[in-house]
Amino acid sequence: MKSNLLVVSNRGPFTIEGEMGNLKYRPAVSGLVSAVLPAVKKVGGIWLAWAGRLTEKTLEVQTVIKDDFNFVEVLLSREELKGYYEGYSNGVLWPLCHLMPEKVVLSEENYRIYKKVNQKFAQRAGTLLKPGTLLWIHDYHLALMPYFVRQKYSWQRIAFFWHIPFPPVEIFTIQPWAQEILRGLLGADLIGFHTEDYRENFLRSVERVLKIPVNYEWGTVYYNGREIRVKAVPIGIEPKNFQKDVPKIEEIEQDLRGQIIFLGVERLDYTKGLKEKILGFARFLEKNPEYLGKVILLQVAVPTRENIAAYRNYAKEVLEEVQKVNERFGHSSWQPIKILTRNYSQDELIYLYRRADTLIITSLEDGLNLVAKEFIASRQEPGVVILSNRTGVARQFGVALKVNPYSPEEIAGQIKTSLEMSLEEKEKMFAKLKEQVLLKNNEWWLDNFLGKELMLSVAPGKYYRK
Ligand code: G6P
Repeated sequence: MKSNLLVVSNRGPFTIEGEMGNLKYRPAVSGLVSAVLPAVKKVGGIWLAWAGRLTEKTLEVQTVIKDDFNFVEVLLSREELKGYYEGYSNGVLWPLCHLMPEKVVLSEENYRIYKKVNQKFAQRAGTLLKPGTLLWIHDYHLALMPYFVRQKYSWQRIAFFWHIPFPPVEIFTIQPWAQEILRGLLGADLIGFHTEDYRENFLRSVERVLKIPVNYEWGTVYYNGREIRVKAVPIGIEPKNFQKDVPKIEEIEQDLRGQIIFLGVERLDYTKGLKEKILGFARFLEKNPEYLGKVILLQVAVPTRENIAAYRNYAKEVLEEVQKVNERFGHSSWQPIKILTRNYSQDELIYLYRRADTLIITSLEDGLNLVAKEFIASRQEPGVVILSNRTGVARQFGVALKVNPYSPEEIAGQIKTSLEMSLEEKEKMFAKLKEQVLLKNNEWWLDNFLGKELMLSVAPGKYYRK
C-alpha cells in the first residue's frame, strides 16, 4: 500500500461472486468506477465499498489485497439495499438530480435506512482511519457520511466528489430531507462537482435552505467554524487504457458490414434519452430515404437497477420502440437499429468505439458522460461526436455536433450533418476533442481536485506534501 488515502463509494471496483474459498471478481461497470479506479491505482491506499454481496449479518468485512491498493468490502442486507440503494439513492436523489421529479418515490422508511447505511459506512471507515489519512467519499449514495464521520472524528480531513448533476434548489427541495443532505455534505472540507452550473446550484441550495452565507466566486462556505471549499473539476479518463490492441467481436460483424455506424453506449437508464435517440434516428430515415440500407444505429444498452420499476418499464419501452422502427423501415436483410442488451467489457467497448463512424449521445440530463471521452481516446481515425447539450461534457466538447435531445428534428439534422462532413472537417473536430481528452486526463482531475487543496500526506512520490 503506497499511501494513506481511504476512498469510499457505494459500488467498488469489482463485484464479488461465489463462495468463500472460490470467490470470483468481476469488474464493475459505472462511470464512478472508470474514473476513480485509475486514480486509486496511481495513489494507492484503501478502497472501502459494497461489492454486490448481500448478507443478513451486520458489519462482516472482508479485505482483498489487490496489486495497487487494498479493498475492504461492506456487506449489505437485502433490506438495506432496498431502502438505501434502490429506495432513496435511486428512487429520490437520482431522479431529482436529473431533473425528473415525476420519477421520485418518497418514503420516510427508505430515508431512515439510507441514514443507517451511511452511518454503517462511516463506522467502517472510522476503523480504517490513521493519523494523516485523507478520506475521500464518492457520490450521492453517501451524502450523509461526511457528517457522521465529522461527528466522531472532528479533525479528520474529508473530500467528497458528487458524480451526478446537482439540480436547482427548487427541484432539490421537493424532497423533505434536503436540509439534512446538505448538512451531511458540509461535513466534508472539500466538495467537488463536474461543472460550474452544478457547483452554483449546490451553493445556492446551501444559501437558501441552510441560510448560510456562501462565496460564489471563491466557492467557500463557512460552517460550524470550518471553511469548506466547493470546486468544479470535471473527471478525466486515463487515455492509455484505451489505446491497446483488442480482439474483433465476430458475432456482430455480419450486421455491420458495409454500413455507416452510429454508436450509442448507455446503461438502460431513463436519463439517457434512448427513446429520444430512436425517435430522432427514425425521423432521419423518414426525411432521408436515400440512406435506407446504408446506416445503422448500433446501441449498447446495458441492463441496470432492474429491481426498480421505473427501470424495468423503461427497458421494455425502449425495446418496443426499437422494434417499431425496425418494422417500419427494415426488411429481411437490413434492420436500421441493432440493440445489444448485455454488459460489454472494456476491450469490447474499445473495439466498438473504433468500429463506429459516429458516436451519438442524447442524454436528457447527464453529470458528465465519460463514454464521449472514451470514444475519442480509443481512436486514431477521426470519429464524429453528436452530443446532447444537456451533458456535463458538452462544455468541454465545444466543437462536437450538439443536439437538444428533446428535438427529433435536431437529432435527425445532426445525423445528416455528420454524414455530409468532409474528412478535413472531421479531422479538425477530432483533433480538438482529442486535445481535451489528453490534457484534462485522470491525473489532471486528481491534481486539480485533490492535489493542491488537501495536502495529501501520501508517501512516496508525487502526492507527498506535509
Ligand atoms: C452512473 C453514475 C455514477 C453512479 C453510478 C452508480 O455511472 O454516473 O455517478 O455512481 O451510475 O451505478 P450503479 O450501477 O452502482 O447504480
